[in-house]
Amino acid sequence: MDASRFSDLHITQRVLLGPGPSMVEGRVLAAQSMPVTGHLDPDYLKVMADVQDLLRYTFQTDNEVTISLSGTGTTGMEAGVSNFVEPGDNVLVAIIGYFGMRIAEMAERYGGNVDRIEKPWGEAFSPDEIEAALAKKDYKLLAVVHGETSTGVCQPEIKAIADAAHKHGALLLLDTVASLGGVPVEVDAWGVDICYSGSQKALSAPPGLAPITVSPRAWEALQNRATKVTNWYLDLNLLMDYWGEPHKYHHTAPVSANYALREALRITAEEGLENRFVRHAEMAEMLYEGLTNLDLPPLVPPALRLKTLTTPRLPEGMNEAAIRGMLRDLYSIEIAGGFGPLAGKIWRIGLMGYSARRENVRLLLAALDDLLG
Ligand SMILES: Cc1ncc(COP(=O)(O)O)c(C=O)c1O
Repeated sequence: MDASRFSDLHITQRVLLGPGPSMVEGRVLAAQSMPVTGHLDPDYLKVMADVQDLLRYTFQTDNEVTISLSGTGTTGMEAGVSNFVEPGDNVLVAIIGYFGMRIAEMAERYGGNVDRIEKPWGEAFSPDEIEAALAKKDYKLLAVVHGETSTGVCQPEIKAIADAAHKHGALLLLDTVASLGGVPVEVDAWGVDICYSGSQKALSAPPGLAPITVSPRAWEALQNRATKVTNWYLDLNLLMDYWGEPHKYHHTAPVSANYALREALRITAEEGLENRFVRHAEMAEMLYEGLTNLDLPPLVPPALRLKTLTTPRLPEGMNEAAIRGMLRDLYSIEIAGGFGPLAGKIWRIGLMGYSARRENVRLLLAALDDLLG
């Protein structure tokens, strides 16, 4: 092997305004470069305890079972599905875009009898619509995506949806990969049973960890399973043997990623959730106004907009991929295109965590004005 073929690693610094990952503060990157230690080292056990405390604050929960899973947001989804869907269980998935479809597909792979209710991309459900579906069968689990990154819709009224699920004897699983840390997610007040997220969006840590929290009601359901959890790596019983005393080995924890997550969560706590939500809302409003002035109005009606991800409607015939390419090459800004039924029709612009700053919104709007003007 001629190692000289491989140059020093160079990664261009981008302004990350896509659907994730978002930009990561220097403090978080510095934390990640602390010495690697053993996953049972006393220093690392303290990091784990801090991550749990800070995640409880961020999820707004007292749930004891609150941890970070090793893997991206999809790992949270897979843990939620694999622990709470046994072969033959009835599962209802309320689909408002791509990520709901992914949950339904996963639940089928774990042997669930899956029913789907769907909305056109860009819309959301009313609690009544979900309750009507819940009334049709004995469902064990209802799955909902809170912030649907494929459309820019934030599913409202999660508390009413959770109440409906509980009235009909179902647990509520909520995907907050694109919403946690950017818009209110109130796990306990809303009554969410299983809630997962990803480190790389509104929390602004590098990709690679999936925070998850599980209510006592869901934990009891897990204890009452007739069969073992099919996914060994994500079996929450085994994971809690590691996260809880006496910290029994399960798998080698990605310690550096957890240092980074701890620091990103510490930043979240320093800013305060309320201030953070206000900042995301203000930056989103500024973006809506600027985009509308450029004749790129948001696709989603105001009441349903996900503040962390805006989806401007594009004029017919626009070569949107070319403009995204120029944003990247000339301005070093990343945004994303639409996909599925919205391919070529929208952009997906993320203002998440450390990316959600005035200077970034202004830069993007000025760059778009240059390119489209
Ligand atoms: C709503 C939602 N759920 C799940 C995921 C999957 O997360 P990851 O790509 O980190 O595995 C994403 C990623 O974009 C998402 O936006």
